[in-house]
Amino acid sequence: MKRADTNVFVIRGGNVLTASGAEVRDISVRDGAITAIGRGLALDGARVIDASGMWVIPGLVDIHCHLREPGGEEKEDIASGTAAAAKGGFTSVCCMANTNPVNDSAVVTEFIKKRAAEAGPVHVYPIAALTKGLGGEELTEAGELADAGAIALSDDGKSVGNARMMRLALRYAKRFGLKVISHPEDTDLVDGGVMNEGYWSAAIGLPGATRAAEETIIARDCMLAAVENTSIHIAHVSTAGGAHIIRNAKRLGAAVTCETAPHYLYATDEWVRDYDTNTKVNPPLRTEDDRLALIDALLDGTIDCIATDHAPHHADDKNVEYAIAASGISGFETAFSICWTALVKSGRMTPEALFEKMTSAPARILGLDAGALAEGGAADITIIDPGAEWTVDSSKFASRGHNTPFSGHTLSGLVKCAIAGGEIAYGREWTCG
Ligand code: DOR
Ligand code: ZN
Repeated sequence: MKRADTNVFVIRGGNVLTASGAEVRDISVRDGAITAIGRGLALDGARVIDASGMWVIPGLVDIHCHLREPGGEEKEDIASGTAAAAKGGFTSVCCMANTNPVNDSAVVTEFIKKRAAEAGPVHVYPIAALTKGLGGEELTEAGELADAGAIALSDDGKSVGNARMMRLALRYAKRFGLKVISHPEDTDLVDGGVMNEGYWSAAIGLPGATRAAEETIIARDCMLAAVENTSIHIAHVSTAGGAHIIRNAKRLGAAVTCETAPHYLYATDEWVRDYDTNTKVNPPLRTEDDRLALIDALLDGTIDCIATDHAPHHADDKNVEYAIAASGISGFETAFSICWTALVKSGRMTPEALFEKMTSAPARILGLDAGALAEGGAADITIIDPGAEWTVDSSKFASRGHNTPFSGHTLSGLVKCAIAGGEIAYGREWTCG
C-alpha cells in the first residue's frame, strides 16, 4: 500500500473490539500506529472522528480476491480493486494468481507488490500459482516465490486435476513454509454444467454441475494434506456435503482450514431462474439447504472464515447467454453487508463472531500481521454503522466490475470508514462530517 502520511487522529466513542472484547472507547492514531486505546484520549492537533453508535473493529481481511492486474485491466486493476476493497472495509487483501501473465514467477509477484505500493490504499499480498501457467503439470518455484513476497500458493480458478501433482505440491510448498489453497472442482464431473445440478437446473433447462464435483476434490485434498502431514486451505466451500467432509477431516486431525464466500450465505440457485448472468459464479450458487448448512458450519467452527472471491468481469463477458458468460461476482463492496444481513440481522450470529470470521481468522490462516486492534499495533481499522440500511447500486461501485446479483437489494450494516496503515483509505468525507 501507499506510504502513510503523518496522520494524527482520535476515533472517539465507538464500540471498540479488541482481543479482550467490545467496549466503548477511543483510539488514538499517529504515524500509522495505534498509540492508545482508552477513554478520554486526546492528541495535539488531532482530527477527531466521532464514532458514537458505531463498531470500531480491526480492518477486514480478505484472503481470496482477484485484482486482475496484470493483463485483465478492462475488468479491474490494482488501483480500482483496492479502492473497492477499502470501500468494502477491507484493509488487507490477498490476490489470486490467475492474471495474464499468470503470477507463477518472482517477476510477476514483485510487479504486483510494486503496483500495490504505488496505487493501492490497502495492504496487498500476492498469492502465487502452484503450477506453471495454472497448467497443473509443472510445479512453480516455491522458494523464489516466497522470497519475492508470495504469501501462499494456489491455482485458484482451476483445480489441480492430477492428485499426484497435488500431493507433490503440498510436500514442496511445506518446505518453503507456504500454505496451499485448493480450488476444489473436478472438471470432468462438472461436465459442461453451468449452474448447480438440481431442481432449478432441470426447471429452467440449463446444464447442471453436480455437487460431487466440489466434494470429491475437497475429500481428496483433505486426505492428501493428512498423509503429507501438512496443512491445506480449501477455497469457497459451497455445499453442505463439502462442509461435512471438512468437519470429519478436522475430527480425524487433518490440518485443514476453509472459507466460504458471502454469496453462498445469502443467495441460492433459485436466483438463476431469470437467467441473470450476474448469478453465474464458480462454484455455483447452491440450494437453501446448503445455505443453511454453511451457516451452521460457520457457527460450529467447521468453516473458519469468510473470503469474498471478488471476481470482477467486464460487461461484455456477462452480456451474453448464460452458458457462455464469465463466472464471478464483484464482491468487495457488498461482502460485509451481505454477511451482516444474512448472519447477524437474521439473529444467527453475534457481531463479534462475524467480525472474527472476517478479521482475525483469515489473518491467522495465512499468517498475516493483521486482524487485531492493539496499542502499538498497525492502525488498520474499520468503522461500521450497524443500524444503517442501504440499497446496493452497482453503477456506483468503485470496482470496475459491476457484476453483482445484489444490485437493488436493501442490506443492513454499512462500512463508513476504512483506515489502513494509519491513512484513511475510504470514508474521508464521513470522517470530516
Ligand atoms: O467464479 C469464479 N470466478 N470462480 C473462480 O474460481 C474464478 C473467478 C474468476 O477468476 O473470475
Ligand atoms: Zn476458486
